[in-house]
Amino acid sequence: MKKIGLIGCGNIAETYFKSQDYFNNIKFVACADINQVSADECAKQNNILSMSVDDLLNNEDIDIILNLTIPKAHYEVSERALNAGKHVYSEKPMAIKLSDAKKIIELAKKNKLYFGNAPDTFLGGGIQRSRQLIDEDSVGKVLIGNFIFAFSGVQTFHPNPESWFQEGGGPVIDMGPYFFTALVNLLGPAKNVRARSAKFSDKRIVETGVKKGKEFFVDIPTSFMMDIEFHSGSIIQGFLSFDVQNHARNHMELYGSKGSIIVPDPNMFGGPVLTSKELGTVWEEHSVENMYLGKTNIVNHSGRSNEAPRQSNYRGIGLSEMIYSIENQKPHRCSAELSFHVLDIIETTIKASTINEECEIKSVCSQPAYFSENDVKVLLK
Ligand SMILES: NC(=O)c1ccc[n+]([C@@H]2O[C@H](COP(=O)([O-])OP(=O)(O)OC[C@H]3O[C@@H](n4cnc5c(N)ncnc54)[C@H](O)[C@@H]3O)[C@@H](O)[C@H]2O)c1
Repeated sequence: MKKIGLIGCGNIAETYFKSQDYFNNIKFVACADINQVSADECAKQNNILSMSVDDLLNNEDIDIILNLTIPKAHYEVSERALNAGKHVYSEKPMAIKLSDAKKIIELAKKNKLYFGNAPDTFLGGGIQRSRQLIDEDSVGKVLIGNFIFAFSGVQTFHPNPESWFQEGGGPVIDMGPYFFTALVNLLGPAKNVRARSAKFSDKRIVETGVKKGKEFFVDIPTSFMMDIEFHSGSIIQGFLSFDVQNHARNHMELYGSKGSIIVPDPNMFGGPVLTSKELGTVWEEHSVENMYLGKTNIVNHSGRSNEAPRQSNYRGIGLSEMIYSIENQKPHRCSAELSFHVLDIIETTIKASTINEECEIKSVCSQPAYFSENDVKVLLK
């Protein structure tokens, strides 16, 4: 059994600890954080060892580092772990600069180590069922479409929201990975992007935790609108914003030559998927409740716009699938190649919105292989 050390004991760590209940090859043995108190608390709660970051990286018992630090720190922590001879699975994005992501790919290759990257939500029932329907030609060739992620901002629920409003933050870096990864999984790689962005205020107020009521600066745009053309010929319009109080749109709608498909929330694992062949007809519902990674496992309404009160969250599947791939010497689905292309879409979107010109997305990647129920089954407890 591969042993995992976790670096970054913040908000999302708990979700990864839960993944030990679902998947048969995830075992955390130690954790570390730049803030020793956070590491000590996390270790105590989860009955594992607390170490300094240096000691964790130098510990010969640990095979894999799970990097759950903030985006700005992803590159530094992943690079150190790869240099220490550990496989790495990192939260999204891979790095905040494409040039750093490239160095990670080269380093992993040189040291013959795996590098995996979130999001893994595209491996869930909702996006995989959508993929199956598109591959089966249910809606024909996807011509155009749209997606939205919009709410009033991370300051409403996160006790330390500042980094979401500084370089390395913003809605494209934070939420783009879910939508772009789902789209690349459904349509293949992206070709170019046109975009616009806006910042509507210079300051925000922390709304929860010990810093409640404290003002902080907003350094970057908080709303982005974009059109992305894919190599398949599909053109998809995106809207990512921290400036919306409420909305009632679907997460993602794709319009094909034979019909339309409503793709469920790419930030989660559940469904249903809806399809319709003709204007005015009833939408056909494709439930994912009977899929291993689609079944509802949380009932917890966040109150966020258009977020389902019953949800499916199987985060950790990407890590589990990477571990299986290491052990069976296979390519893994949450690959460096895929996350590099997704980061390229992110960086190119931000660039296009800054220079007001269509920008080419220079990298490509292959569409990840379909993740069948049999592929999932071998990873389950
Ligand atoms: N919170 C969520 O709901 C959520 C969901 C999905 C993905 N993510 C992603 O997970 C990552 C972490 O998010 P979070 O919400 O847990 O953030 P967080 O701020 O709550 O926690 C990050 C932790 O990393 C530590 N850290 C920062 N720099 C470090 C360094 N150089 N070395 C060691 N430790 C360091 C911090 O002290 C903190 O404890 C982000 O990339 C985020 O995009 C978060």
